[in-house]
Amino acid sequence: MTTATPGGIGTIGRNELPPHLDENLLTPRFYTTEFEKAAKTDLEIARKDFEAMFKEMEADYNLKHFDRKASLERLQELSPEDKAVYESYLVRSVVSEFSGFLLFKEISNRFKKAGRTELGQFFTFLARDEARHAGFLGRALKTEGINVDLPNLPKKRAATFFPLSWVLYSLYLSEKIGYWRYILINRHLKANPDKVCAPLFDFFEPWCQDENRHGDCINMMMRCWPGMTKGIRGKILSRFFLWTVFLTHTLTVCERGEFYELLGIDPVLFDEEVIIQTNNTSRNAFPWVYKFDDGKFLKMRLDILNAFKNWRKESGVRKPLALSKFVILILKQFVLPMEKTNCIRYS
Ligand SMILES: [Fe+2]
Ligand SMILES: [Fe+2]
Repeated sequence: MTTATPGGIGTIGRNELPPHLDENLLTPRFYTTEFEKAAKTDLEIARKDFEAMFKEMEADYNLKHFDRKASLERLQELSPEDKAVYESYLVRSVVSEFSGFLLFKEISNRFKKAGRTELGQFFTFLARDEARHAGFLGRALKTEGINVDLPNLPKKRAATFFPLSWVLYSLYLSEKIGYWRYILINRHLKANPDKVCAPLFDFFEPWCQDENRHGDCINMMMRCWPGMTKGIRGKILSRFFLWTVFLTHTLTVCERGEFYELLGIDPVLFDEEVIIQTNNTSRNAFPWVYKFDDGKFLKMRLDILNAFKNWRKESGVRKPLALSKFVILILKQFVLPMEKTNCIRYS
């Protein structure tokens, strides 16, 4: 028997469907962009970087890593609540990997159609990796008895349109934040092997290197569009995307705190470390990053978390009040001081 949630997730052989992917702002989305503009990317600006990245992607270091025969059966019996938490993590992750695959595949097709063969092939490498990641997570879900109908998912959810600069800024961040998330979970589980509840986590280290490389590929693309990282435009884009991605991360980790607790990780500390590292890494690509020295940004994160929880809890006339408190706090965080970086920019 196959049933489906409004989000389009199908399950096999289950009577009850956990709300693993309900529609809200924190759910992974599918994107579309200015493909014709992208096809005009001037590679000559960053030719050397492109060739280096192309070789690295072509080498396909993880060709044999995602072993199709490796067992992904859980190692421990989990309570029904913990099982749902683990499955929810898998579902959200598979959707986010798959949405990356779709976007890279589409960009690659558009480049090829426009006669930009090198760039088309380059994005095929990125799509290849994301397809592998999604396939691996899909297998882990299958062992849990859940079948996610990935090819039909985008048909059920509207794609969000982003201009090219927005796509590059947000892709860079999502790859780098993905890298830090995987590597920090991996380091924690290496130090606490009793918390490894499934062999899936043993695959995280080379996996995160894929995400790291993808981030570097996107950085190279950003260098081909010098206007994106210059002047006031560069500052606004940096500020907006760092703020949005960090805020979403904080709220998502807080929403899915149970998953981190299942692995013995404190979600609030995890969120903080991921944000610190990602902000620091972004110095390589963005002209501006948030200044964390005074501790204000990270401290405000906790106030925002509390305000968010409070808003969710409240009802009646107190709800709009709680919402306005939350909105004021996030706006205050948005305008916190930033610092200039020395990222490489060609012109
Ligand atoms: Fe991925
Ligand atoms: Fe990636």
